[in-house]
Amino acid sequence: MLAGLSPKEFMKKYWHKKPLLIKNAFKDFKPVLSRAELFRLAQSDEVQSRLVQQQSNGDHSTWTVQAGPIRGRDKPSFTREAWTLLVQGVDLVNDRAAQILRQFRFIPDARLDDLMISYATNNGGVGPHFDSYDVFLIQASGQRLWRIGQQKDLTLRDDTPLKILADFKFQKEYLLEPGDMLYLPPRYAHEGVAVGECMTYSVGFRAPKSDELARDLLLRLGDEVEELMDSKVYADPMQGAVADPAQIPDTLQYFAMQALAKTIERPSVFARLLGESLSEPKDHVWFQSTADSSSKVRRNRPRHPCPEGVRLDDQTKMLYDALHVFINGESWRATGKDRSLMRLLANQRTLRAQDLDKASEDALGLIENWIDAGWAHSL
Ligand code: SIN
Ligand code: CO
Repeated sequence: MLAGLSPKEFMKKYWHKKPLLIKNAFKDFKPVLSRAELFRLAQSDEVQSRLVQQQSNGDHSTWTVQAGPIRGRDKPSFTREAWTLLVQGVDLVNDRAAQILRQFRFIPDARLDDLMISYATNNGGVGPHFDSYDVFLIQASGQRLWRIGQQKDLTLRDDTPLKILADFKFQKEYLLEPGDMLYLPPRYAHEGVAVGECMTYSVGFRAPKSDELARDLLLRLGDEVEELMDSKVYADPMQGAVADPAQIPDTLQYFAMQALAKTIERPSVFARLLGESLSEPKDHVWFQSTADSSSKVRRNRPRHPCPEGVRLDDQTKMLYDALHVFINGESWRATGKDRSLMRLLANQRTLRAQDLDKASEDALGLIENWIDAGWAHSL
């Protein structure tokens, strides 16, 4: 898939650094959804979708954006030019889309975001722009002309609802055909224009922003602070008499700062909160419980929730760190054999029956709960 490059070489030479065009990255690429299926998906609340239409007046284009769900009556005619439908998170609802995303697991799961599918009629696209994250653009059907350039001036136009570069200057252009793939590092200017009807898949990444991460971790810490901290009462035996009673004492400021610092200075708590945050499912994700399947398999082999093995649901996020295992926003401390098994499950997203035989009763109980919740399925 990486034009003969090993994942190691790709990461070293290109990732976050420079674009790479890979002709025929996917041989005999078969789209995972037909046009009709994509539009059906865009009608549902399960996925995020957008309809983008471009109006050209000579050199000057304007865009209109409509947020999904996109109902049949909102959809422009397929014979009309220059519009596009974008559907986010298709990997969460389509197993083959999830399989495509999984081919990019040489990059940590904590960075991998989703598979977006766009459909465009001739000349359709979202205009010249840059993304804050890395992206792999896979041509799924039809052709698309990509123009790309590394420019310092990333000023955006202020007259459109889309982020459009005010002054886009491209340096290279590539016509992508089905199975071709273009990698772009963050903040690399690009514009993809459909040549005839086309579908493009974007493998997107997420990179947490320091301020958002800090806010999220502080909120999580706030919820737990009473459990985590001893409650000390401020004491001021050295307080002298004051002439300015409204002034906050320095010692009280210091006391408050220490209280906060003590809460934050706990690497293992921070690691746990981070893992819980990163493994949190997206807002619109819900799991379908398959409770009966585990009880059925339990009858076959009393000790075992799933005699043939177990696989994680496509929507499940499972991560781990040195001390914890995280699944869909929850955490456990695992040790010994169970820890190795849970790590194996997180990395492979499946465990074979032979591996499960080594699991403790506690670990099997957990896996059974996950199956009941629809987070995992027996094979
Ligand atoms: C698209 O598929 O039209 C947009 C993808 C992108 O430019 O990032
Ligand atoms: Co883009």
